[in-house]
Amino acid sequence: MAIYLDNNATTALNQQVLDVMLPFMRRVCGNPSSLHRFGRLQRDAIEQAREQVAKLAGAQADQVIFTSGGTESNNLILRGLSACAGRVQKKKPVKRIAVSTIEHMSVLKPAQALFDKVDYIAVDAQGYVNQQNLEQVLDTDTGLVSVMTANNETGVIQSLVPLIHCCRQRGILFHTDATQAAGKIALNFIADGIHAMTLSAHKIYGPAGVGALIVDQTVPLNAIQFGGSQEKSQRAGTENVAAIAGFGKAAEMASEGLLQRQTHTRQLCILLEQGLKKIPAVTIFAEQADRLPNTVQFAVAGFEGESLLMQLDRKAIAVSSGSACSSGKTQPSHVLQAMHIPDDIALAAIRVSFGENNTVAEVETLLNVLHEIINANRRSPVMMAASL
Ligand SMILES: Cc1ncc(COP(=O)(O)O)c(C=O)c1O
Repeated sequence: MAIYLDNNATTALNQQVLDVMLPFMRRVCGNPSSLHRFGRLQRDAIEQAREQVAKLAGAQADQVIFTSGGTESNNLILRGLSACAGRVQKKKPVKRIAVSTIEHMSVLKPAQALFDKVDYIAVDAQGYVNQQNLEQVLDTDTGLVSVMTANNETGVIQSLVPLIHCCRQRGILFHTDATQAAGKIALNFIADGIHAMTLSAHKIYGPAGVGALIVDQTVPLNAIQFGGSQEKSQRAGTENVAAIAGFGKAAEMASEGLLQRQTHTRQLCILLEQGLKKIPAVTIFAEQADRLPNTVQFAVAGFEGESLLMQLDRKAIAVSSGSACSSGKTQPSHVLQAMHIPDDIALAAIRVSFGENNTVAEVETLLNVLHEIINANRRSPVMMAASL
């Protein structure tokens, strides 16, 4: 049996979530915008999911806009505030924004594409954005700050509250991409005073292709897609009811099972880190930081991450490497670069992200296979070269 240790990439669809979705895919007909009973049934399912997702975020149901996922939610908040929202926009656009250097590409790329001026907030060696770094880049015309709740590669959890206060004092909007944090740590949209938050269902055992942007009513968000009046005209288009209902169920299970999932995955992380420390020349990234209870990113010096990933794959173990291939050349991850990790170590990065279905036996298998691969490569200069 193959071992899946890449739950930050996506999680398996939960059976109970699938059970909620299937009737909407099989039998139940009706457009949620229709006034008749068939329509009302669909609408009720959407509104129930809205409540469930709001609860997970610590928000109110009327603050939830359903989207196609984390990428669209990040694009919606950035584009919807920018001057690019279209000629019909009624609200004053934001011209200048600040984003952390470790954001996901679905924040970094629209930021670059849509705004006259983008300021980058540096992180420290553990991957934290601190208030001082934020204050350094804020200017009188900064309209929005975006800092993710937890990083997808290192798992580092930001202390958002001081950053939010700093923005609110200056009248700056604060967005956080909580795609990876949801279901792994508690989210407090209202209590923390967040203006906008991104979520995605497929990271919490829900279906892919559905997510949400949670937005405070005071945010002057313009629609970026025009048509029907779905999602209060913020996101026109007939809703994918099965996916939204599945997202709702996944969110409900994430809220109710939070402590249990945290305890389970944290135990696996501790076991893995204990084992990794017995391997010579292993670095655990952001080791001193507060990290997601399911994520361990590490490097074995002398072993290129992608090569190690492929060798693990041959042994039926799925992990992720932090690097990205661009123009045929493997590039170190921008997250590790932002933390000033030397390129040779950053290129060796491997990310293990546990989920609710992983077991202690799987961690033991991973550690045994890692030992085998590393010993074999270290004994054989030819294979070692192949892995560099
Ligand atoms: C931090 C973060 N933001 C956004 C996304 C994009 O989410 P989606 O796949 O739902 O578009 C991801 C996906 O990996 C992510 O890790």
